[in-house]
Amino acid sequence: MTSNEVRHHAHFVKAFGDVPPVLANESRLGQVFLNLIVNAAQAIPVGRADRNEVRVTTAVDGPDGVTVEVADTGIGIPADKIERIFDPFFTTKPAGVGSGLGLAICHRIISELGGSISVRSVVGEGTTFRVTLRRATEVAAVIAPPVAAAPQPVATRRGRLLVVDDEPALCTTIELVLARDHDVTTVTSPRRAAALIEAGERFDLLLSDLMMPEMTGMELYSKLAEAAPEQAARMIFMSGGTLTADGAKFLHAPGRVSIDKPFRAAALRDLVRTVLDATQSPP
Ligand SMILES: Nc1ncnc2c1ncn2[C@@H]1O[C@H](COP(=O)(O)OP(=O)(O)OP(=O)(O)O)[C@@H](O)[C@H]1O
Ligand SMILES: [Mg+2]
Repeated sequence: MTSNEVRHHAHFVKAFGDVPPVLANESRLGQVFLNLIVNAAQAIPVGRADRNEVRVTTAVDGPDGVTVEVADTGIGIPADKIERIFDPFFTTKPAGVGSGLGLAICHRIISELGGSISVRSVVGEGTTFRVTLRRATEVAAVIAPPVAAAPQPVATRRGRLLVVDDEPALCTTIELVLARDHDVTTVTSPRRAAALIEAGERFDLLLSDLMMPEMTGMELYSKLAEAAPEQAARMIFMSGGTLTADGAKFLHAPGRVSIDKPFRAAALRDLVRTVLDATQSPP
């Protein structure tokens, strides 16, 4: 998935050791390594791929652990920034390139799996992210892990969510995906969404489609920006297909959060949790 992204920046080296299975979930680990590898490639200027590398190394770490390192020969991370790279929305990339959520999501996923993630970097030489995961014992691999050894879930608060999408089937799907962790209200009409908020309803997060016949997500945003700016600031936009020039400009404005349709359930859950954790409860 990342070969196109990496190719113009560096060689991709797989230094895979002989490691046992770990306690994890394939699709979530996929999200973690996708972001780490894309970050690594983006840290290396284009054009000198023959002299740079992105190296993924797996190794056994003591009796209970496995490490995966993603190392690059890129620009490195200065000391004053390295403390902040795992913060949601921290990005040094231009608007439209990075949302600054990648590492925040990686951190959350790895913590939930009972592992850890760390970084070391030398400016001008490169950066190495190290992920440590817990080895799955044979029993754990077949049956569920014992309760005492289960990864501690990261405490998160339940959010009040409003989902706005003109496709009823999508509203239902999103509700199914999010309702276990959050209180979800869905509406198929953006006017109805605006009316709820104008009537005084407050949400921790609003998930809105961008292209709807009645009123676009952008129009809903402008309406809310006047009626209840603190609610407008809590919007996540779902976009699918080609964007108009205005749509692209809107989505790429600083601080705006969006997710491309179609998305995976886990990606939506992670995004919602990360944004919720990064924002305060509404007044
Ligand atoms: N391998 C790396 N080398 C240098 N800087 C890095 C590296 N990985 C992350 N960073 C720094 O950390 C910041 C945050 O990374 P993160 O993945 O959270 O967000 P992003 O890549 O900017 O945006 P997104 O992943 O949401 O598209 C980056 O903007 C960059 O400044
Ligand atoms: Mg990233």
